[in-house]
Amino acid sequence: MADESTDRRDQQTDEATADDASRDAEFAGGAGDRDVDADRTSDFDHASDGRDDRTGGDPDSAAPELGKLNEDYTIPGVDPSDQQPYKWHTGEKRDHGGEDAIEIIDLVKQFGNTRILNGLNLGLPDNEVSMVLGPSGTGKSVLVKLIVGLLYPDSGDVLVHGESVPNMTDDELFEMRKKFGLLFQDGALFGSMNVFDNTAFPLRQHTDKSESEISEVVNSRLQEVGLAEAHYKMPNELSGGMRKRAGFARALVLDPAIVFFDEPDSGLDPVRTALLCELIREIHEENGGCYMVISHDLSTARRIADFLAVLWKGRIVESGPSEELFESDNDFVRQFLNAEVEGPLAMD
Ligand SMILES: Nc1ncnc2c1ncn2[C@@H]1O[C@H](COP(=O)(O)OP(=O)(O)OP(=O)(O)O)[C@@H](O)[C@H]1O
Ligand SMILES: [Mg+2]
Repeated sequence: MADESTDRRDQQTDEATADDASRDAEFAGGAGDRDVDADRTSDFDHASDGRDDRTGGDPDSAAPELGKLNEDYTIPGVDPSDQQPYKWHTGEKRDHGGEDAIEIIDLVKQFGNTRILNGLNLGLPDNEVSMVLGPSGTGKSVLVKLIVGLLYPDSGDVLVHGESVPNMTDDELFEMRKKFGLLFQDGALFGSMNVFDNTAFPLRQHTDKSESEISEVVNSRLQEVGLAEAHYKMPNELSGGMRKRAGFARALVLDPAIVFFDEPDSGLDPVRTALLCELIREIHEENGGCYMVISHDLSTARRIADFLAVLWKGRIVESGPSEELFESDNDFVRQFLNAEVEGPLAMD
């Protein structure tokens, strides 16, 4: 029914991998992507019914909260024989002493009968660098897509600066996206544009700046990321690290209040990873805002994160200031943040 068709749309959106790179490029470039907006538009038809109707109105819609784990849906990483899959999930939110820029409330996201997020609650502090860690395939990238409105939740809410993303109209979402910078894993550059034009794209799309004003912003951003000499290079002439830095410059041209980095360090050598981390910290210190970094890399976490959240089995195990999480006595958090072999997480 309504929920199922949403799932199908989401799957079509995401499984059309051939188009993913260009769609990501358009999103990261700040464009109101036609495909994605088409998905959103149809989602909004169903969103406009209102949250309560959506989850409870149609008894056949298999409202996610009415389903039963291992009967109606499964969760990757949850063993059906485990009677207490959430015994390590205290959900404890250690106080970070500031305001949250992003609040995620009871978020559920399911593809078919595989539930990826199962009532996730998380607050991401403003003016800090946060990092979400978790085993591969636990839904970190899905979480980012839900926050920026590329995917629509089955239930629950995402508030960005207090405004509900799933309940936004397309126009409101388009406006909201100007607040976001998004660095995809591979940089998601437009293959047919040089570095300068890739970086200028969001400014041309979203502002009335003249070409000389645009040049000024683009030059200074490219300078900051060490690509001052690479203006005229095409993406296929760049190394992986340079592509990430170009994606980073582009993510920042609109001075976004919220920046997402999905695995900024993957595929980089240790020195380049350290340099990229330094760059993220420096630019954050200069601009402030809410940065959300997704990574598996514990040294990246130690280098840049003020705040950490650990995701597993569709929920946050614990979140809080990073120095406190690194000292956590939670078995799972300790195992994961110290890369220990012994603990709740096994290879299967
Ligand atoms: N559109 C989709 N349709 C069906 N399944 C999907 C879709 N998008 C993601 N998934 C599934 O959701 C799960 C979580 O995916 P996601 O990419 O968020 O993981 P991740 O935590 O980012 O992993 P990694 O650390 O490997 O990047 C995976 O099992 C993936 O196959
Ligand atoms: Mg991912």
